[in-house]
Amino acid sequence: MQEVFDAEFAADPWPVLDQLRRDGGVHRVRTPDGPPAWLVTRYDDVRAGLLDDRLTSDVRTAGRTDYRGFAVPPPLDALLVTAPGDHARLRKLVTGELSPRRLTEWDRLAPLLVESLLRKVDSDAEVDLVERLAVPLPAAVLGELLGLGSDEREALAVWANSTLLASAAPPRARDTLATMQSIITAATEQARAERADTLLGRLVAAHDDTGSPSTEELAGLLFYLLFVWYEVLTDLLAGSILALLNHPDQLPALHSASNMLPAVEELLRYVSPQVLAGPRFATADIGFGDYTIRSGQTVLLCLAAANHDPRVFTRPGELDLGRKRNPHLGLGYGIHSCLGTALVRTITGATLDAVFTRWPGTTLTVSPREIVWRSGFRHRGPLTLPVKLG
Ligand code: HEM
Repeated sequence: MQEVFDAEFAADPWPVLDQLRRDGGVHRVRTPDGPPAWLVTRYDDVRAGLLDDRLTSDVRTAGRTDYRGFAVPPPLDALLVTAPGDHARLRKLVTGELSPRRLTEWDRLAPLLVESLLRKVDSDAEVDLVERLAVPLPAAVLGELLGLGSDEREALAVWANSTLLASAAPPRARDTLATMQSIITAATEQARAERADTLLGRLVAAHDDTGSPSTEELAGLLFYLLFVWYEVLTDLLAGSILALLNHPDQLPALHSASNMLPAVEELLRYVSPQVLAGPRFATADIGFGDYTIRSGQTVLLCLAAANHDPRVFTRPGELDLGRKRNPHLGLGYGIHSCLGTALVRTITGATLDAVFTRWPGTTLTVSPREIVWRSGFRHRGPLTLPVKLG
């Protein structure tokens, strides 16, 4: 059993992942939470795993001794205990809402949300762009997307500040879950009272009219939309800005791009903030490389390792905003692939455009090695980004 997720892993996972990929690709590892799991690192295996319907996300099929993912109490765990048919039904409820067609107004809205935060930043100042931008922006985005009232937006921002900033005291899991639950309940009640024509209002109306989503499913969906993906968006924004600060040679490519999309795709690949897909549980014995994964065992499909696989990406350790072929798995793949894809691309593009157009000469005020990383193994991002704007 290998111990790969040590304190260094979040700051620099690449040497370890490269080694594991070379060394057979599939490994039995101990998770930081204790229980073991299989870690899959080669691109072809990760992609195949994401498409394999013998690997389910439903934690009820997990064996007793393997890793079971982060523990969330009901009803916030509704999506973790969803059978495939129910998962497809729930996914359908939000797919249309987050489709590129529905999100056309975000081309206009995203730069406005970014600007509203940057306007408050003094241009001569040394600032922490995690604190001033990467943490508050998702609250503004998700507040707008779901149609939250001002009290819930404020509560979301307070939750984010108290859990995601380097200065935050370590939150007690129980307090954090209680805060999340109360934001979800308040937002749902308000949308119902106002019969709001918003994403949340439409989910509540669907629940009231048809019973789908159920009360538990609605809470579970909101838990993921508001809190789980919040943190990963923060990590993507901060990680992308840091990558560009570390590669000023790439800024001309960013500025000359008529379309931000390839640049954002490359950052999603290079940064890979979502290191692991959600845990999958084998419902049958499955051959993976030289190993047989037994029914009930847990499989961690490593998106970050796949995204740096030299069999698929030329010079994977280099950031190349002009990369032509980029079939990265940073937003997942298959039936669980990211529903926020269109939004994530638009927000990230607008953020990078605003920061590096306004302040093209921005530099880090510490050496890249001094940047502290959030100590997760499922996803990773810089905790602070101290910069001198310019
Ligand atoms: C506005 C922000 C976001 C929203 C609303 C969002 C929404 C979602 C939802 C609803 C799912 C679950 C789909 C399912 O289980 O069927 C999902 C999956 C996923 N998202 Fe996002 N997401 C957001 C941001 C991000 C970001 C920033 C990243 C990474 C850079 C990301 C990466 C992923 C990945 C890798 C999966 C698949 C996980 C798996 O296969 O287990 N998401 N997203």
